[in-house]
Amino acid sequence: MALTTTDPLDAAIVRADFPLLARTVHGKPIVYLDSAATSQKPGVVLEAMDRYYETINSNVHRGVYAIAEEATNAMEAARAKVQRFINARSSAEVVFTKNATEGLNLVVQAWGRANLAEGDVVVLSHMEHHANIVPWQILQREKGLEIRWIPLDAEGRLDLTDLDRLLDGAKALGVTAMSNVLGTFTPVRTLTDAARAAGAVSVVDGCQSVPHSTTDVQAMGADFLAFSAHKMCGPTGIGVLWGREELLDTMPPFLGGGEMIRDVRLDGFTTNDLPWKFEAGTPPIAESIGFGAAVDYLESLGMDKVRAHERALTDYALTTLGERFGDDLRIHGPQNPDERGGVLSFAFKDLHPHDISQVLDQHAVCVRAGHHCAKPLMKLLGVGATARASVYVYNDTTDIDALADALESAGDFFAL
Ligand code: ALA
Repeated sequence: MALTTTDPLDAAIVRADFPLLARTVHGKPIVYLDSAATSQKPGVVLEAMDRYYETINSNVHRGVYAIAEEATNAMEAARAKVQRFINARSSAEVVFTKNATEGLNLVVQAWGRANLAEGDVVVLSHMEHHANIVPWQILQREKGLEIRWIPLDAEGRLDLTDLDRLLDGAKALGVTAMSNVLGTFTPVRTLTDAARAAGAVSVVDGCQSVPHSTTDVQAMGADFLAFSAHKMCGPTGIGVLWGREELLDTMPPFLGGGEMIRDVRLDGFTTNDLPWKFEAGTPPIAESIGFGAAVDYLESLGMDKVRAHERALTDYALTTLGERFGDDLRIHGPQNPDERGGVLSFAFKDLHPHDISQVLDQHAVCVRAGHHCAKPLMKLLGVGATARASVYVYNDTTDIDALADALESAGDFFAL
């Protein structure tokens, strides 16, 4: 079956950059379709981290000897790369966190605790990951907040019919840019404009969108954006909270300790400048350097090409899987590849997602099965779990075909 758009990336060439993708599983070449959970890492990222440990391993922002200065410079150079990648105004706005979850918790605990009071309204969507729900619910328990929910339409898009009413009087809007279950893109600019008009701060979960398309925080119109390195070719253990400098400046610190202070006395402390005010303790140094290499790598591919590649692959998957399995396969979310990223959650026949995943594993096909940390969305879909295949720069149509063949085997196996 021909692709409906020209695919600008040659995944076979890209794949050769990723050492893990050369391995076999159960004697078969691996088919990695779980990049929404974590992406594989190219050799350049692994080498950059090794080089740090082998040549300049030392703590940052402390030592005044040569390798400590080199390590500090390498970490701050990585921050500058991230700043450029998301078009932030200043690297002061790029806070390194442990992951996106920590970034979202930082917003709630630092901004939220200081600015929200009993009865204040926070608006979230029905497709949020737990990381953009539970932190707000923790504060809700403490402060007595009201949480309102943006509903979904039948195809898994945000239903904005009542947005103005939902936002009326709200202090904050928390919304994902792309669902980790449905793949749905949300109309971020429309949402952030509406939030601003209502006087609400907007907090965007960019975990699934930032790795897969061009990000411009200034064009996005949000106040905060959180994302993780490990879903975008970088290492685990580091993420980013981008925030508008005016807001970050006025927020109290999140974690206390070394690095985040300017002065400490027996009667109190003063905080460091941004972004270090929010980076207590020894930061993820090797990880930041690996993250910088990941950003270089993605930029060398071109984020426009990354998106076009994944759009073409999603189109191929929706079409070929639909043709091959008909009503036996139900892919959740919008059926138009322009409205979604390369995340395909599905139900197949009456098989349990964990059974599907186990049989697929015998064919070396890696997919995630479960609730995907989105239990309210699972409830709305009327399922306990789904199987989920997700693509990235190293996948091509052969991976989708391998998924289809493995699904057919799963169907045959459980029909016995
Ligand atoms: N949040 C990640 C996922 O959706 C781990 O799989």
